[in-house]
Amino acid sequence: MKIIRTKNYDEMSWRAAQILLSQLIVKPSSVLGLATGSTPIGVYEHLVRAYQKNEVDFSKMHTVNLDEYYGLAKDNPQSYAYFMNKHLFDHINVSKENTHIPSGLADDPILECKRYDERIENLGIDLQLLGVGHNGHIGFNEPSDCFTPTTHLVHLSQKTIDANARFFENRQDVPKEAITMGIKSILSAKKIVLVASGADKSSILKKMILGKVQPQVPASILQLHGDVTIVADEAALSEWSEEQE
Ligand code: GLP
Repeated sequence: MKIIRTKNYDEMSWRAAQILLSQLIVKPSSVLGLATGSTPIGVYEHLVRAYQKNEVDFSKMHTVNLDEYYGLAKDNPQSYAYFMNKHLFDHINVSKENTHIPSGLADDPILECKRYDERIENLGIDLQLLGVGHNGHIGFNEPSDCFTPTTHLVHLSQKTIDANARFFENRQDVPKEAITMGIKSILSAKKIVLVASGADKSSILKKMILGKVQPQVPASILQLHGDVTIVADEAALSEWSEEQE
């Protein structure tokens, strides 16, 4: 794992955006795996700025998002489809038909998961951007007794529901289920970039980088991938740094 330690959130966002932009400059038709949550918002702001300055062309890019809440329509402001439009897709020249997110309203979620896996397999992910949950979840792959390889419907843990409640007006509105890409699909990406910021992520980052690879800490599986870059600020890396001294 390559670790880039930055001073703060802004530098983290800029450094991670540089990696994504380089990928697109080298291969404009790249397939980017994208993430939601508050952490990547700064990365997306940098991508939009680069586009406004004519530094990058997104017209050939394809994207596959990690996950979507089950039960939310794509025009629901809490859906991840809405999030991606708001923070990135509406401000750059990506073709919307090249952007893929699991459907939160699929009548048959099992079929939707299968369809999404086929899409990922056909496209192939060049670079996957990730955040990480406080309990080590990536996408919505929650701590469990085994890693789930493929796209699946997941019951969100109380910790995740609590953490995501800040985005909803009422705690009861937070969906209890989501469709998420599986671990095998995430690991199939040629390159992985994980962003993290803030002291509240320091304990999980240390476990993810130095701890045992186990499904109880889903992000620990990234230790087995050959090309992972963690871009995190000093606060998020504080517990890991102490261990290095
Ligand atoms: C959600 C998303 C994850 C994200 C996580 C952390 O649960 N499904 O992909 O990594 O939140 O979010 P934040 O960056 O807001 O801490």
